[in-house]
Amino acid sequence: MQDKLIQKLYDNADLSAEELKVLIENRSDEDFKLLSGFARKRCEESYGDRVFTRGLIEFSSCCKNDCLYCGLRRSNKNAERYRLTEDEILSCCDSGYELGFRTFVLQGGEDAHFTDDIFCNIIKKIKEKYPDCAVTLSLGERSRDSFQRLFDAGADRYLLRHETADKEHYSKLHPTEMSFDDRMRCLKDLKEIGYQVGCGFMVGSPYQTVDCLVKDLRFIKEFQPHMVGIGPFIRHKDTPFHDKPDGTLELTLFLLSVIRLLLPKVLLPATTALGTISPNGREQGLMAGANVVMPNLSPVSVRKKYLLYDNKICTGEEAAECRGCLQRRVESVGRRLVCERGDYGS
Ligand code: 5AD
Ligand code: FES
Repeated sequence: MQDKLIQKLYDNADLSAEELKVLIENRSDEDFKLLSGFARKRCEESYGDRVFTRGLIEFSSCCKNDCLYCGLRRSNKNAERYRLTEDEILSCCDSGYELGFRTFVLQGGEDAHFTDDIFCNIIKKIKEKYPDCAVTLSLGERSRDSFQRLFDAGADRYLLRHETADKEHYSKLHPTEMSFDDRMRCLKDLKEIGYQVGCGFMVGSPYQTVDCLVKDLRFIKEFQPHMVGIGPFIRHKDTPFHDKPDGTLELTLFLLSVIRLLLPKVLLPATTALGTISPNGREQGLMAGANVVMPNLSPVSVRKKYLLYDNKICTGEEAAECRGCLQRRVESVGRRLVCERGDYGS
């Protein structure tokens, strides 16, 4: 059992690369019990029993990129493509506001149809109508100038997973026209501009090693993001990774706890992918130190078309109202889903 290392991580909110490697390679169920108990404690110190929620609006399934793991990649001819109109996006916000959401996340593929002007217009309209809400963007890579324009239009936060902090691993997950350095440039620009920034990675993505994970954790500690999104890799049948094994619940939960201890105040979602590999994956994520859930606010009619991976949850008619469902789930682990913007450190 690795009590000493875990205690050190808890006390110092830090471990060296070598120590992280040992911790991950030798992890046991007992280690996880101790680690996740500490992670819950840190989470409670920072945020009490509150769980923040964000309404996710998947506005476009069109993507110019060809990431090898993603079901929306341009080479996937079986993917159904759609774009929500500005009015449709705004009406998602209307119903979301009624349900108690105070953060809207606009997430989509890298879709050239959505120019800066179009986004700026949408952001301004959301902020005019709902000045008490935060707008989070998850639009992929853009120029610094574009990030600046969207920020000036009122966007508060930006999610861009780094996907892996190992350059060689990055090149195995992406086609040659995509670069690790571009990705890192985007994250740096976003932070400098003043966004609350989220990075993150998939757990168990093809070719990932423990050394990759250690680099991810060291990168996260040094970059000091406001949010970290991690979830298991889940194969999609129409991608080159269709026969690769899925990431595990166990390792994802372990890493959630490590991240909570490295960055005590970080906003850490229990992701949809976690809920997809296990029926109560998100609840277990909350028990491991997560404090955010991001239910789907997209119209039910498009949900089956935004499939990053197979068997994604919350895509059927029965999921029309994810908020109520999540509220029950959050309460089942003794926590409270709140109607707040849920800013970093709030
Ligand atoms: N399994 C799990 N997560 C995925 N993502 C994309 N494809 C998959 C997959 N097959 C994640 C990526 C991306 C985020 C929007 O979804 O990390 O950044
Ligand atoms: Fe979507 Fe439960 S969160 S149905």
